[in-house]
Amino acid sequence: MIIHNALFIKSSPKWDLCPQGNFPEYAFIGRSNVGKSSFINMITNNSKLAKTSSKPGKTQLINHFLINTSWYLVDLPGYGYAKTAKTVRSGFSEMISGYILNRPNLVYVCVLIDSRLEPQKNDLEFLYNLGENGIPFVLIFTKTDKQGAVKTKENIDIFLQKVAENWEELPPYFVSSTITKAGKEEFLDFIETTNRQLSCT
Ligand code: GTP
Ligand code: MG
Repeated sequence: MIIHNALFIKSSPKWDLCPQGNFPEYAFIGRSNVGKSSFINMITNNSKLAKTSSKPGKTQLINHFLINTSWYLVDLPGYGYAKTAKTVRSGFSEMISGYILNRPNLVYVCVLIDSRLEPQKNDLEFLYNLGENGIPFVLIFTKTDKQGAVKTKENIDIFLQKVAENWEELPPYFVSSTITKAGKEEFLDFIETTNRQLSCT
């Protein structure tokens, strides 16, 4: 897919203040600093679209970007950073929970995982909660430029084994780096195919 335009629409503090849900929507979530905003900038070819920082906790609101006037990308605040983030019964923080559980046009939650780390408890818990709430998701393993390919594969295999303990079928997953642009084309192809399927149903 070629990105012709990527437009910032709105930052919302709550799901019911988000823009009208009139386009297919893909939301990016993961631990603070994992690279959500950077990944969005990579796939839209715009290093200034989503705000990034070397310090965790940069993204604080629900940010909507309209892509090619036909689908939304959503940059969400990370988890695992704000010490006071309240969790509600669904297991998500209140802002994330409201958004994920009430957004009818949300097609996939894209969960970013740091490819350098062994499986983290809060990532596995987050995925478990998505499963419990019947939310479809894909995985994006980030920062693969920071280590060798063998180590990346080893870590991803270990993570997927953990995922397989709770799911019969593995979710789609992407191996990415904002430095080498790995995963960019694969991810955009996936969105294109998914959007096409949606418009046929
Ligand atoms: P919050 O908004 O705080 O939740 O963080 P985030 O997940 O949006 O992370 P962000 O995109 O702001 O990136 C955090 C840091 O990681 C920045 O310094 C990025 O430059 C760096 N980073 C992100 N992706 C990559 C990558 O693929 N490779 C390398 N080397 N650095 C990356
Ligand atoms: Mg961010």
